[in-house]
Amino acid sequence: SNPTDESARARIHPDIDDILVSQEEIAAKIAELAARVDADYAGREILLVGVLKGAVMVMADLSRALSVPITMDFMAVSSYGSTTSSSGVVRILKDLDRSIEGRDVLVVEDIIDSGLTLSWLLKNLRSRGPASLEVLALFRKPEAITVDVDLRYVGFDIPSAFVVGYGLDYAEHYRTLPFVGTLTPEAIARRA
Ligand code: XMP
Ligand code: MG
Repeated sequence: SNPTDESARARIHPDIDDILVSQEEIAAKIAELAARVDADYAGREILLVGVLKGAVMVMADLSRALSVPITMDFMAVSSYGSTTSSSGVVRILKDLDRSIEGRDVLVVEDIIDSGLTLSWLLKNLRSRGPASLEVLALFRKPEAITVDVDLRYVGFDIPSAFVVGYGLDYAEHYRTLPFVGTLTPEAIARRA
């Protein structure tokens, strides 16, 4: 990073190294995904299942961009083991409020990394007898291709770097940044 980068960074956010996806790009993508979902689900009602907490921004923006009728429910899950890589062993912290039996369920995810969390979640939800079960993820990392999960809607393929913003956190911070970007080494070290 050179001095020009430094001043640009300070104007954006002092802890952000690089913006990978801008606010404008996210807004355009959400609109595009919403149009596809509207077309695919015409005449039906969708139950959007948001995975807390990362998906709250996608959920808020996508749900308002849709024309088809929707209802919302949320689940919170946590993987056991290391905090930086997913083990695939998942614990339900908050379950859905209602049954999804016979419903057209669209799981709304922030980011798919290894895909292990999602793979577990889909198996769990499938056992509850929904009429249909699809996934929308705003971001996908390259590792996701190794796990066999069918992602119906994907916003952006991004590099495998750790990213924050638009719902994504580092130690619960940065979720409200309107863009998605990487952190400076200093910002990572500060909360490590
Ligand atoms: P897996 O590996 O099971 O994990 O697909 C997906 C979950 O891991 C979190 N995750 C991230 N969170 N920045 C974040 O803030 C990232 O770059 C990142 N990569 C993975 C996230 O909770 C996701 O649902
Ligand atoms: Mg997180």
